[in-house]
Amino acid sequence: MATTGSGRALLRYGSWAMVTGSTAGIGRAFASELAAAGFNVALLARDAGQLQAQCRELASAWDIEAVAIPCDLGKPDYLPTITAATDALPIAFFVNNAGAASYHGRFLERSAQDMEDCLNLNTAVQLRLIQHFATRMAAAHGGAIIQVSSIAGHMTLPFMAEYSASKAYQLTLGEALYYELKDHRIDFLTLSPGATRSRRVSYGMEPTPVVRTALAALGRQPSVIPGWRNKWSAFRHRHLKSRRAAVHSMGAFQRTQLRSD
Ligand SMILES: NC(=O)c1ccc[n+]([C@@H]2O[C@H](COP(=O)([O-])OP(=O)(O)OC[C@H]3O[C@@H](n4cnc5c(N)ncnc54)[C@H](OP(=O)(O)O)[C@@H]3O)[C@@H](O)[C@H]2O)c1
Repeated sequence: MATTGSGRALLRYGSWAMVTGSTAGIGRAFASELAAAGFNVALLARDAGQLQAQCRELASAWDIEAVAIPCDLGKPDYLPTITAATDALPIAFFVNNAGAASYHGRFLERSAQDMEDCLNLNTAVQLRLIQHFATRMAAAHGGAIIQVSSIAGHMTLPFMAEYSASKAYQLTLGEALYYELKDHRIDFLTLSPGATRSRRVSYGMEPTPVVRTALAALGRQPSVIPGWRNKWSAFRHRHLKSRRAAVHSMGAFQRTQLRSD
């Protein structure tokens, strides 16, 4: 197994990592960093062709095993699909990354189905995946889980109401699990990126430094916000403004984004 650089220390968790939403953006950077660190990887997304190409590329670049798991986390059979593909693999590192797409829209114009789909993926499905892999890690005496939330979870975002609420849920859940899962020797980190270049976002930080910030913070703190601008923005919103001022300023900003969509 090839191991490189500072990532080598991550192998203390075990030999297999799993990343959901591995074919683009932040998930793709996690898959690359973990493969470069020497993990065998189980990679999940909907598009089987892209997944297989990614597995071939990482396996050949880093001399590791890479398993493709084509799966739609929005479909009811996601857990049996994942179980069938991973039960024989000692997954010791899990990145809960694939989430619902953010949007700018007026609450009353949103379809109820879209909102339910967003909440289902970002809360119920991700919760179930955490419990599934944490249970296995606890039985194996430890592991690591990274929950990808968002800076949106630290703020209140009008015109992205249920998305930002779902990200706040992930942050609160993740910080609680950071404490609770320590009893099972599981390091749990919630990552709250700001805008990050990805399939759906064309500005912001590059995904690799976002992911490296998370990997460096894992085991040291409950959550991390990558980039000083994002840190400052969250701090100002939470601690330097009244709730009214914070909500009004984000609302005014979000309204300008709505107009430019
Ligand atoms: N980019 C940002 O600015 C930003 C900021 C804060 C937080 N985040 C969070 O970071 C995470 C990743 O976002 P990203 O922008 O990096 O993503 P992205 O570039 O849009 O890529 C999404 C990945 O998830 C997969 N995916 C999407 N829906 C899926 C589903 N229903 N089932 C299985 N796989 C699915 C996609 O592949 P397929 O299409 O083939 O399924 C792809 O691999 C999300 O949780 C997001 O909320 C992103």
